[in-house]
Amino acid sequence: MRRRDFVLGALGAGLASSGALDTLVGNDRAAKAASARGAIPYGAAVRTDLLDPELDYKAAIIDHCQLVVGEGGLKWIDLRPGQDQFVFDQPDRLMDFADRNGMQMRGHTLAWYGAMPDWTKTIASSAEAERELVHHITTVVGHYQGRIPSWDVVNEAIAERPEKGSVIRDSIWQERLGKRYIEIALRTAADIDPSAQLVVNDYNIENPTAQCRDRRTALLNLLRDLKDRDVPLHAVGIQGHLPGDMEIDREGLSAFVEEVKKMQLDVLVTELDVIDDKLPAREYDRDQIVAARARDFLGAICEAARPSAILTWGITDRYTWVPMWFKREDGKPNRPLPLDAECRPKALMKVIDKFTRAAE
Ligand code: G3I
Repeated sequence: MRRRDFVLGALGAGLASSGALDTLVGNDRAAKAASARGAIPYGAAVRTDLLDPELDYKAAIIDHCQLVVGEGGLKWIDLRPGQDQFVFDQPDRLMDFADRNGMQMRGHTLAWYGAMPDWTKTIASSAEAERELVHHITTVVGHYQGRIPSWDVVNEAIAERPEKGSVIRDSIWQERLGKRYIEIALRTAADIDPSAQLVVNDYNIENPTAQCRDRRTALLNLLRDLKDRDVPLHAVGIQGHLPGDMEIDREGLSAFVEEVKKMQLDVLVTELDVIDDKLPAREYDRDQIVAARARDFLGAICEAARPSAILTWGITDRYTWVPMWFKREDGKPNRPLPLDAECRPKALMKVIDKFTRAAE
């Protein structure tokens, strides 16, 4: 049995029907259309503390990326150890690295339920919550004014399962301010840096499941509500943490991006990786499936609009968040990213190149 047939067999009809493995880095129509419209900047989430000690990691970022975003550093837990503290050391180092290497830096993230320091649990009233949120965004966006051209202002605002109750995910901000926190965050960021692209960033909208459909609907309704009320907003970030064992809802995702485009919003792919815990053990086969998922995902988006950026959440399998939650039962290391643990390009890097490089 040919390796390809084995892999397709292991995947069932889904992937075979899309012919993904055949045209993995072939003349994908959407890829060709995207590249014909000019290069799309590619970037990666960076662990800033590794840039000095790990020269091959640093070289890989410099070789492949036009954009960087801190995997940490600009989250409350990193920036705000105390209520009266702002610690900019880590993001300042990444900003300096980006400046020295001709890259742009994205800001991630100003308002999120996650990575919050314990002291924020003491925020007791809506007035205090608004004061803290405005003060944080004013200080942080002000610190980088004119130097961070794109911010994930609000991250993962949509509830995990919006059909089962509140559409907006629970957080200290939601508890104290309701969904008004989203508008407060966006308006504050716009006031402090009118030049910045303001992004609402979310995930789990890519597959043909009821949950993804509900999340797409909820996210579109949020975006429309903000646009209808002239709240400053420029783009939606589609994170793209793709479950490797699930096909991409190409039609549903393309339709979602079409609706976003009708609202005159840009689209970014902000955190692409492919969660491979349920994929075949053999590395070659796994890499092919990972790449095919990304190809279908990027193809669905690019059929509807040209993303203003494509970023992966890390660049090498040596450093990925995926095993934090999705360790493989066979104990093999996860392979979710474009470069392997030795920073060698994999099939996923070829797919990303196909979508991001301008047509020759
Ligand atoms: O740096 C400390 C270290 O000193 C300590 O010994 C260690 C053990 O607790 O923790 C280390 O901090 C960890 C940090 O990553 C740096 O590695 C935190 O515990 C851990 O919670 C944190 O996880 C990050 C997570 O966001 C929460 O902030 C992941 O690296 C990061 O990949 C993940 O990224 C998120 C995006 O921000 C939003 N979208 C989903 C994505 C994946 O979950």
